[in-house]
Amino acid sequence: MEAKTWEEELEEAAHILAESNYVVALVGAGLSVESGIPSFRGPGGLWTRFGEPPMNGYQVFLQNPKKWWEERVAQQRQGAGSELQQAMEQAKPNPGHYALAKLERMGVLKYTITQNADNLQRVAGCARVAEIHGNRLKMRCIVCHFRMPREEVSLEVLPPQCPECGGVVKGDVVGFGEPIPPDVLDICQREAGRSDCMLLLGTSGTVYPAAAFPQQVYQKGGALVEINPYENGLSHFCTVAVHGPAGEVLPLLVERLKGAMQARSGAAGHQKRS
Ligand code: APR
Repeated sequence: MEAKTWEEELEEAAHILAESNYVVALVGAGLSVESGIPSFRGPGGLWTRFGEPPMNGYQVFLQNPKKWWEERVAQQRQGAGSELQQAMEQAKPNPGHYALAKLERMGVLKYTITQNADNLQRVAGCARVAEIHGNRLKMRCIVCHFRMPREEVSLEVLPPQCPECGGVVKGDVVGFGEPIPPDVLDICQREAGRSDCMLLLGTSGTVYPAAAFPQQVYQKGGALVEINPYENGLSHFCTVAVHGPAGEVLPLLVERLKGAMQARSGAAGHQKRS
C-alpha cells in the first residue's frame, strides 16, 4: 500500500479528533524542540549525544539532601547550569504550544499530560495541564507534596524545610528513580481513563508511567494520533501518525479541525432547517 502523504495524514488526524469525545494530549520533549530545548532521545537528543544519566539520582538525593543542595547552589553560583537548564531559561513557547492552547479553547482538547518541566504550555495559555514530571519553576516537599514558587524558598538553611510540615524540600522536577507525586499521578490516571483519543506529541513513549497511558487508551479501543518527525515505540499502535515537527503540524491541524467542525455544525444546522 502506498505511504500516505502528509496531507492525507493531516486530514485523517483532524477527522479522528473531530469525531472523538474526550481528547487528551500526552506531550514529550519533542514539542519544545522548536523552542530551542533539546530532546533527550532520538536524533540530536541529549541522552543520544551524552548517554543516559544515572537512574538513581533520587536515591543519591535521599542519602544526603544537604550535600545535594550544597552542590546545586554551588553550581548555580558558578553559572554552571547544564545545556538543558540554559535552554529552558531562554525558551519561549513555539506555534505548537499556542496551537494546543487553541485546541483547549475550542473545547477539543480536554486535558494535557505533559512530561516536560519547561512551563511553556502554561505560558502559551493552556489551563488544563498535569505536569507528570514536575515544573522547573517550582519546589516541592517530598513528604506532603506542598509546592511553592522556587523564588519563595530560602536557601539560607539547607536542605530547605517545608513551611507546611517541616519535611525536606527539593525541586519539583521529578528525578530518575523518584516516584511520581500521587496528587498529579491521580489526575493523569483519571484523564487517561476518560480519554477515547490520545494525541501523542513529541514523545518517544519510553518512560513509565507516562508511556502506559497510550497503551491503556489503545487497549480500550481508543484512537492514538501521533505527531512526530520520526517513528518510535508507540508508532505501530497509532491510528494515524503525522510525520512532521509539532510546531508546524499542530497549527495546520487546528485549521483543518476548524473546517471539519464547521462542516459538521453546518450539516447539523441544515438538517434542523429542513
Ligand atoms: N516535533 C515533534 N516531535 C519531535 C520533534 C519535533 N520538532 N523533534 C523531535 N521529536 C520527537 C523525537 O522523535 C522523539 O520521539 O520527540 C521525541 C522526544 O523523545 P524523548 O527525548 O525521549 O522525550 P520524552 O518522550 O518526553 O522523554 C520522557 O524521559 O528523560 C526523561 O524526564 C525525561 O520527561 C522526559 C522523559
